[in-house]
Amino acid sequence: MKSEKDKRIISSKEYDNDKTLDLSLRPKFLDEYIGQEKIKENLRIFIKAAQQRSEPVEHILLHGSHGLGKTTLAFIIANETNSNIKITSGPAIEKAGDLAAILTNLNQGDVLFIDEIHRLNTTIEEMLYPAMEDFALDIIIGKGPGARNLRIDLPHFTLISATTKASLISSPLRDRFGIVYHLNFYEQSDIEKIIKRSANILKTQINEDACSYIAKRSRRTPRVANRLLKRVRDFAQVKGNGKISLDFAKRALDMLEIDDFGLDWLDRKILEVIIDKFNGGPVGLKTIAVSVGEEMATIEDVYEPFLLRTGFINRTSRGRVATRLAYEHLGRNYIL
Ligand SMILES: Nc1ncnc2c1ncn2[C@@H]1O[C@H](COP(=O)(O)OP(=O)(O)OP(=O)(O)O)[C@@H](O)[C@H]1O
Ligand SMILES: [Mg+2]
Repeated sequence: MKSEKDKRIISSKEYDNDKTLDLSLRPKFLDEYIGQEKIKENLRIFIKAAQQRSEPVEHILLHGSHGLGKTTLAFIIANETNSNIKITSGPAIEKAGDLAAILTNLNQGDVLFIDEIHRLNTTIEEMLYPAMEDFALDIIIGKGPGARNLRIDLPHFTLISATTKASLISSPLRDRFGIVYHLNFYEQSDIEKIIKRSANILKTQINEDACSYIAKRSRRTPRVANRLLKRVRDFAQVKGNGKISLDFAKRALDMLEIDDFGLDWLDRKILEVIIDKFNGGPVGLKTIAVSVGEEMATIEDVYEPFLLRTGFINRTSRGRVATRLAYEHLGRNYIL
């Protein structure tokens, strides 16, 4: 069995046993969605305008790191427009027939949510173009000289797509979205609000200083904040009276080996590998992944962006390099 620590608190991926928690904490309306003010303000206008014209909202592309609220926002848009939402993902649509089945099953005004749209294969992506643009599906029947093109009209729907890798979206696809939003990392004050809101839903009392202590270590990411809150809540419940004080927050995060920067043991392991094994770098991502015993995709998607953003590592053409901050954080001497 994996230890508590191994469950990767930091990882922004959803865990099965956190799914129910995620669902109960997930805001359902724009007013409950904390932060991302510009996006919310814009969305309110787009939704209202579309409703006044009795048309579905334009197609929306949401991009940003894991756990920042893309899926949540897609559900909120469906809710705010009283639409049904159908959910799928790039890797789940393998064949042309899969997409045809999804599209022909939509009703007027439905929201189709395609997660991880960057993983859609090219043939499917090209099929999506007329569906997005003209609400039509072009199907080729037969092969060779007898083949003919059949065009099926589709109901007007809204496609909402999410991706963590905007750079992998082709420009023809990107151009077909009327609305494109980049979700930013949250402000400390917004993460605090999210923690308070979640604590309230979980019927847990939390002190102001404990809330800001947890928020500071949440990588400015709502999913991480909720996950840390849940672990601290467990700790306070078992070791105390359930109320989250600063002392409990500190002890719980210590136990989880989450430090003041919000780094967990794997973040530190990555830094240690670069510094101690490879003399500070440069070292390739693949080598780092093998050395720490983690999948390359996880290092690239989850760990590296945070280490880069917080200035612990730099990316050079020859690989990753540990910065002075990383040396100091691990208590190593930084010699140029
Ligand atoms: N703005 C917000 N206000 C309050 N809670 C939020 C907000 N954004 C996200 N959350 C919380 O964080 C959790 C993770 O958000 P969500 O699943 O929407 O992220 P995501 O961007 O889709 O991540 P991934 O890229 O991994 O799919 C949600 O269950 C929700 O509880
Ligand atoms: Mg998501």
